[in-house]
Amino acid sequence: MSYLVNINGKTFSEEPRPGQCLRTFLRDLRWFGVKKGCDAGDCGACTVWLDGTPVHSCLIPAFRADGHEVTTIEGLARNGELHPMQHAFMQAAGFQCGFCTAGMIMTAASLSEEDQRDLSHVLKGNLCRCTGYHAIENAIKGVTSIDEDRPGESCGADLLAPAAEAIVTGKVRYTLDTEVEGLLHLKLLRSPHAHARIKAIRKEAALKVDGSAACIRGRTCRGCYTRRPLTTTITPIPTTLTCSTTSCDSSGSGSSRSSRTPKARPKKDAARSRSTTKCSPRFLIPKKR
Ligand code: FES
Ligand code: FES
Repeated sequence: MSYLVNINGKTFSEEPRPGQCLRTFLRDLRWFGVKKGCDAGDCGACTVWLDGTPVHSCLIPAFRADGHEVTTIEGLARNGELHPMQHAFMQAAGFQCGFCTAGMIMTAASLSEEDQRDLSHVLKGNLCRCTGYHAIENAIKGVTSIDEDRPGESCGADLLAPAAEAIVTGKVRYTLDTEVEGLLHLKLLRSPHAHARIKAIRKEAALKVDGSAACIRGRTCRGCYTRRPLTTTITPIPTTLTCSTTSCDSSGSGSSRSSRTPKARPKKDAARSRSTTKCSPRFLIPKKR
């Protein structure tokens, strides 16, 4: 089988793995502007153009791209010139973290003028987890919210985010886009039974799994943690207190209310009133638990 796909104007003949989706295939070829989001066709972070039509690449089997043209966010700018939609997203600050931005731009750049009148419908397949939809709508409608960066006047101005160009061109790298050479993957195995007591773990079986490098059990990590008693720090209460309430003599600052005529209180509250209207250390000591 010969497999040929045109990605951003370059021809690739690497064959996808059986069952591989187009999104993973593209990322394996290091087109990291194609994001891995929900993996279920809901979020649109993986949107690319397949022969000019935006698709959720996580839902397209990679072999279906054979003989077709794929455009990712990295291929949207031509001859060093940003696509007008990339430029518009920069000028409207149409992103926050920027994770959805590549997919959002790929969809937005394919919209006709008529589509743009019904954005809530046509952008249904692209979700922004930062929920910056107002700025995204502004970007698509060509509204600019970025101020010019003038020397001495930038304080308080809405300036272009330093990462703006990297975000709209798909060059910015997120954690999932980084690769560490020789990196191993850790898989945590938890008991599927609530409150179960583990009596034994047979690590020999785990090590037989192809590619396993090590099996780490709690017993292996015994020196890594210690059981410590829970301690609480109790802050001593100062013996000399000042009170900031204006009605209190102990503030030492005089009382603004003391010059006013005190309101008559019902007799039965008088005793309690005498003991609580003045702040004294006695009333500020917390109850014993
Ligand atoms: S990752 Fe493809 S739609 Fe979310
Ligand atoms: S800007 Fe963060 S997800 Fe859309």
